[in-house]
Amino acid sequence: MIELAQPQLLAPIPPVGRFLTFRIAPEADVRAALTQLRDDFAPDCGVAGIGEPAILALGAQVPGLRTFPALSGPATSVPSTQQALMFFLRGPDRGILFDATQKIREIVGEAFILEDVNDTFTYHGGRDLTRFEDGTENPCDEKAVAAAIVADGESMRGSSFVAVQRWVHDLGRFHGFSGERRNQLIGRDADTNDELEDPPPFAHIKRAEQEAYDPPAFMVRRSMPWAGAEREGLEFVAFVESLDRYERVLRRMTGCDDGIIDGLFRFSRPITGGYYWCPPVRDGKLNLTQLGI
Ligand code: HEM
Repeated sequence: MIELAQPQLLAPIPPVGRFLTFRIAPEADVRAALTQLRDDFAPDCGVAGIGEPAILALGAQVPGLRTFPALSGPATSVPSTQQALMFFLRGPDRGILFDATQKIREIVGEAFILEDVNDTFTYHGGRDLTRFEDGTENPCDEKAVAAAIVADGESMRGSSFVAVQRWVHDLGRFHGFSGERRNQLIGRDADTNDELEDPPPFAHIKRAEQEAYDPPAFMVRRSMPWAGAEREGLEFVAFVESLDRYERVLRRMTGCDDGIIDGLFRFSRPITGGYYWCPPVRDGKLNLTQLGI
């Protein structure tokens, strides 16, 4: 099944990444543009995802795909900024990402308008900008495949769903907390990466503890830090075989379930949110049979 998935989907995070989203131009020929994307997109340059607006424009259906939900918990707010296309480009340097961006813009032509670009990077070998290691509890090998890749359905097999959410950190506020408090917010020791013996209920790893869900909510996270001149944070990325896995965790983090808000919200907040279907591949090209293309 893994051979049917986009080749970069489960790859470790690259030295540099770039996230692109596109909206649909008025009166665009979406079918023609997606046919071009199928024929010309090189899956080795990154992961392509298609959002519900594009699926609806085709009159097609992708079981399990929906628009990212805007959520409100007690004092938390999670926005939805759903777009029609998303690309998570990957590479050893920014020149490669620039070339890949140009190529994609050429492929989608005037049918899709570039909405947003965010450049990301690997920080200290895979840490969040808070310096906590990120990705420790990710499932590996066949467990990663089971968590992230759709197993059933002739034209769905090998596809995946991705949740992409940009978080903005208030690092000044974060560093204003004591070291002990910072560890409590995450539930791990920033220096050793060990889990705290008795993390508080609001600790991020308590809220997001994959095994504590019924059924378990394992997901493959490939989040990457980003930083501009004035703002910085984490481009959160999770690949799942069902968006329910991600959404159950997000709801618990926001306090929607039991009123307990994830410690992350004390120094960070999401400003984007989108769900995308990552089609399978066939003969090195995107397989869009599910969309009738
Ligand atoms: C500001 C944004 C976020 C930061 C800085 C962050 C950081 C971290 C860190 C440092 C860990 C512990 C190490 C690890 O297992 O990776 C972790 C674990 C985890 N995070 Fe996040 N995270 C963020 C947002 C999210 C979101 C939005 C979700 C899903 C809705 C999520 C899901 C998880 C999961 C499932 C785990 C593993 C928990 C376990 O089973 O132990 N995270 N995160």
